[in-house]
Amino acid sequence: MTQAPEGDRRLEKERMIQPGDAIRPGHPPTVSRYGPLVRANHWFTALCLITLAVSGMALFTPSLYFLTGLFGGGQNTRAFHPWVGVALFFSFAALFVQLWRANLPNKTDVVWLSRFKDVLSGNEDALPEIGKYNAGQKFVFWGMSGLILVLIVTGIVIWQEYFAVYTAIEAQRVAALAHAFAAVIIILIWIAHVYASIWIQGTMRAMTRGSVTAGWAYRHHRKWLKELVSLRRKGSRQNAAE
Ligand code: HEM
Repeated sequence: MTQAPEGDRRLEKERMIQPGDAIRPGHPPTVSRYGPLVRANHWFTALCLITLAVSGMALFTPSLYFLTGLFGGGQNTRAFHPWVGVALFFSFAALFVQLWRANLPNKTDVVWLSRFKDVLSGNEDALPEIGKYNAGQKFVFWGMSGLILVLIVTGIVIWQEYFAVYTAIEAQRVAALAHAFAAVIIILIWIAHVYASIWIQGTMRAMTRGSVTAGWAYRHHRKWLKELVSLRRKGSRQNAAE
């Protein structure tokens, strides 16, 4: 594989390391991956999406109408659903601002994707060294970002209570279709996201405790770990010089 120019490599490193990422010595050593604010932001976003999926399905088909009972009946569900959508939009926007840089695609993602068979069979040795996120995680991130944008825009178009007078019936029909379509895709992406978090052992604690073991980082995000090690070395050299 051809080496990336020095400037590109430096830029990638700057994006990969986020505020708060750090190695903590101990037995076993752990690596901070998410601070409490990002985690709270993530779990609130997750709660919003699950609530939206359940209330949305309840409104979507008569066979699932019984689910409106969870929200105090049909009328309440109809009133409640769009507001949770607004909450999801702002909550995800806050997550987006913090994470987009580390999710920018790079050349390693292409190599990782071209070896997807090895990813599925857990043949990690055949994969390139990965930064903070792999191409699969980046796909989830950008997929969710785009779909949440589609959902909020189409959701506003079909929000009868406040916006019906501003939009034509034809636009509302198209928006309703696009809204349902985007909802199905985001639910599928969410299922894949949760499956991957459980399937790759040791991942869940990144979002529950905020840290991962150094072993997990070495195995799945070696480039990120190596960069943190070199930052730590630079830091201790600087401290020694002062
Ligand atoms: C109950 C459901 C969920 C579980 C169990 C879960 C679990 C996780 C875990 C363990 C991570 C850390 C992965 C890592 O750092 O390697 C993570 C990251 C993340 N999750 Fe979730 N999650 C859930 C729902 C959601 C939802 C609904 C969204 C968005 C609508 C979301 C968006 C994200 C994003 C953006 C990241 C950071 C990864 C990246 O930026 O590429 N998650 N999640």
